[in-house]
Amino acid sequence: MTRLEGKTALITGAARGIGLAFAERYVREGARVAIADINIDRARESAAKIGDAAIAVEMDVTQQASIDSAIAEVIGTFRRIDILINNAALFTAAPIAEIAREDYARVFDINVGGTLFTLQAVAKHMIERGGGGKIINMASQAGRRGEALVGVYCATKAAVISLTQSAGLDLIQHGINVNAISPGVVDGEHWDGVDAFFAKYENKAPGQKKAEVAAGVPYGRMGTAEDLTGMAVFLASDESDYVVAQTYNVDGGQWLS
Ligand SMILES: NC(=O)c1ccc[n+]([C@@H]2O[C@H](COP(=O)([O-])OP(=O)(O)OC[C@H]3O[C@@H](n4cnc5c(N)ncnc54)[C@H](O)[C@@H]3O)[C@@H](O)[C@H]2O)c1
Repeated sequence: MTRLEGKTALITGAARGIGLAFAERYVREGARVAIADINIDRARESAAKIGDAAIAVEMDVTQQASIDSAIAEVIGTFRRIDILINNAALFTAAPIAEIAREDYARVFDINVGGTLFTLQAVAKHMIERGGGGKIINMASQAGRRGEALVGVYCATKAAVISLTQSAGLDLIQHGINVNAISPGVVDGEHWDGVDAFFAKYENKAPGQKKAEVAAGVPYGRMGTAEDLTGMAVFLASDESDYVVAQTYNVDGGQWLS
């Protein structure tokens, strides 16, 4: 059974990692997807591997003109956007005493500003065309509590959870469901970068932090991007119509809420 037959989705930061896994799964469920990323070469490569149901779109979620032109391009190709996943994000880590204002501004601009203003632009389209829609924001267990070395990234993800609540409560009057997925630790290129940060700040060997976090997951291993796709399909499908402003943990039991 295909659960997203005839639907169209815009996924930010989908050139690789979790966003790409969402794109592949959505296509298997019958949707057409726009892989929107600042890295257009990688986005094109990923879309080509998926096939005709995927297009690549250049998009920088920190630039309003780029958000607007990417959305216009997707609507021009697909005629409409039914599903948005705000997935693009950047990780950063540093002890509180070493956080640089430029790094703070850059990461907030992508993770929070990018989520808010992409959501806003797509919501305007959904309201105008009528018939509702589904918006999924990527939060994180990092948004559930602070971490000594991860102050800025944690704060951005807490903001994403809060924005999901506010947008969810505002937009449900238009039949637009806004919800979020909160992953735990998901192996891939993103976590290769996280591992390198901890190698620097906690004086660990490469790969050591990954092994430690994997051992701490109740399920018994790090997550894979594929582990998250079931929730992403549910939140994009009609089965989640009565689910409003929620953030779901998909993390092998890391966080209980
Ligand atoms: N990997 C994990 O362990 C983990 C855990 C919790 C939450 N998350 C969240 O899941 C989402 C996906 O994570 P991932 O592991 O696939 O990350 P990733 O780093 O592998 O992919 C992020 C993508 O975003 C793109 N991007 C960066 N800046 C952009 C910009 N300004 N505009 C458009 N695209 C931009 C990158 O080019 C990249 O393709 C993120 O929101 C992340 O915070 C990941």
